[in-house]
Amino acid sequence: MPKKTVYDLPTVHGQRVLVRVDFNVPLTPTGAIANDRRIRKTLPTIQYLVEKGACSIVMSHLGRPTGDPQADAIYRMDRVAHRLEELLGRPVRKADEVVGPAVERAVAALAPGDVLVLENLRFHPGEKAGDAAFARSLANLGTIYVNDAFGTCHNTDASMVAVPRAMQDRPRVAGLLLARELEVLTHLLENPQRPLVGIVGGAKVSDKIAFLRSLLGRVDRLLVGGAMTYTFMKAQGRSIGSSRCENERLDLARELLAQAGDRLLLPEDHVVADRPSADAHTRVVAGEIPEGWYGMDIGPQTRERYAAWIRRAGTVVWNGPMGKFEDAPFAQGTRAVAHALADSQAVTIVGGGETAEAVESFGLDSRIAHVSTGGGAFLEFLSGSRLPGLEYLEERT
Ligand code: 3PG
Repeated sequence: MPKKTVYDLPTVHGQRVLVRVDFNVPLTPTGAIANDRRIRKTLPTIQYLVEKGACSIVMSHLGRPTGDPQADAIYRMDRVAHRLEELLGRPVRKADEVVGPAVERAVAALAPGDVLVLENLRFHPGEKAGDAAFARSLANLGTIYVNDAFGTCHNTDASMVAVPRAMQDRPRVAGLLLARELEVLTHLLENPQRPLVGIVGGAKVSDKIAFLRSLLGRVDRLLVGGAMTYTFMKAQGRSIGSSRCENERLDLARELLAQAGDRLLLPEDHVVADRPSADAHTRVVAGEIPEGWYGMDIGPQTRERYAAWIRRAGTVVWNGPMGKFEDAPFAQGTRAVAHALADSQAVTIVGGGETAEAVESFGLDSRIAHVSTGGGAFLEFLSGSRLPGLEYLEERT
């Protein structure tokens, strides 16, 4: 059943709206925002609330602070609040605490249309612990709860579950980003245009067991790339040279191969390197990987074959790079798949931080039907898991 959204709220003018977003953006080592996509994607919700005269109290976690104030300084929300201010084109206030009297005063001072960003929720131990007293302090700040944090919906952090649970006497709705993510991904699960082609890459089979199983139950073809290729190849008894491999997952890989039958395609050629490094000597090999060489990317024939499957698909869902794309010599597979999606007539869906960043770095994100803001949440939703963050949102009847 679809969730109610901010559009279903009868009135928000003058209401104190607690907006849980996922501003967990990638940071550079000095704490600068490396990519502001997650902030940009929430703008429609925040702009809507501003235009309707709500007093918006925006809250998020950022990174995984350790409790050491010096090390955690880069996780303060100031830069994020500043970026939001730039993108909104209007002043955004920032509270230096998560809850407490100073925050309550800042909230009381909000006028219709104002936006306040709270300090990093994870600076308070109650957030990760799902603490009910902490959740009540947050809940008391708002008269309406909005969840626009799809990327965090697989977590049970207090702001995702205990806060809406404490606000069951008040409206609890999805933001526009969350609503869109749920619509696209539910359609993919329930009624995809066929052929449905899944593309999975990345380092480890073990990171994506439930996702792989779920996709294998749904797709017409599953195209595999990334380092997980070599675990599958070894499970088939083929040589992988010095390539990365999860030896403790070979049985699982065999089981998935058996489940897949001929629907699972592995690369037929590879870009290999004499060292797993950007300045290594590289060449292309077909079939197996020679002793002493490292598989680093899918090869040209595989790129062609995968692109042909993407061309004839009705829906394509992609998670995980095809090679070590951050190093230029091993980026061609990921780039080719991204271009094939961009050129395809299919409904194209990309998810996962690395994959979304790759598509963006190639300048192709605007040509993909849906680039999800979810990493773990994307994988879990498409694995068929119920996301805890959705539980207390009202359903549209
Ligand atoms: C994510 O980036 O997947 C979410 O923001 C959740 O962050 P976490 O993995 O630190 O809980």
